[in-house]
Amino acid sequence: MRIAILGSGNMGSALGHLFASVGHVVAYSFSRDPKKLERLAKSSGPRARAASPADAARDADVIVLTVLWQHVPRVLRSAGSLRGKVLIDCTNPLTPSDDALAVGHRTSGAEIVARRARGAHVVKAFNTTPAELLRAGVNVLPEQPAACYCGDDVRAKRVTARLIRQLGFEPVNCGALTSARYLEPLAMLVGELAYNQGRRPEVGLRVLRPGRCRARRARR
Ligand SMILES: NC(=O)c1ccc[n+]([C@@H]2O[C@H](COP(=O)([O-])OP(=O)(O)OC[C@H]3O[C@@H](n4cnc5c(N)ncnc54)[C@H](OP(=O)(O)O)[C@@H]3O)[C@@H](O)[C@H]2O)c1
Repeated sequence: MRIAILGSGNMGSALGHLFASVGHVVAYSFSRDPKKLERLAKSSGPRARAASPADAARDADVIVLTVLWQHVPRVLRSAGSLRGKVLIDCTNPLTPSDDALAVGHRTSGAEIVARRARGAHVVKAFNTTPAELLRAGVNVLPEQPAACYCGDDVRAKRVTARLIRQLGFEPVNCGALTSARYLEPLAMLVGELAYNQGRRPEVGLRVLRPGRCRARRARR
């Protein structure tokens, strides 16, 4: 797939590298330093490139939104029309001081993104995954971590789940885009675990449900 990265910082660069490593065509965009985009593209292999947001988005199948919350309006404006595209929203709507959610309860960052990116099929995903875990790879963890995602468009969710799986995570379908109201606060907890509690930031989540194996074991 052709994937446009809007925001090539911690998250954008980690996801871009991973997507390129599994064969996708990646365009990095939205940095104050164009040379940084060139360097990222070079280190991601021959099919990756640096681009402007509009250029990256124009021929992309999937848009990955990885900017700080306060830059969302600007980057979406500069990307142009995203109608019909899958837009994976990895952002967390934090205040500029980075210590609280700026929106929540009866809406979410993802729903605001969906209103701004008119016609795009928005899926919330990877917002509960530290960039450090993406960089280190899922194999640093003792078990396969989950990546929660939610959205309203079935095809866009299917595409996102496939990408999640390709990066080694278990996709966990959390329902409609309104579930981002729960995923965004959850990211605050992951941040607390990653950066303030414990010694390493490569924190992964797992979602367990009653399953056949366990039931069979219990019957024995
Ligand atoms: N970091 C994580 O572990 C993590 C995990 C889950 C979700 N998220 C969410 O993902 C989003 C991106 O986080 P991040 O940690 O990747 O942020 P980041 O490293 O600060 O990256 C932000 C990107 O925006 C660009 N940018 C363009 N204009 C800018 C300006 N005027 N000021 C600051 N940056 C500007 C930066 O470019 P430059 O190259 O010029 O810096 C960079 O490409 C956030 O919404 C965050 O909540 C992050």
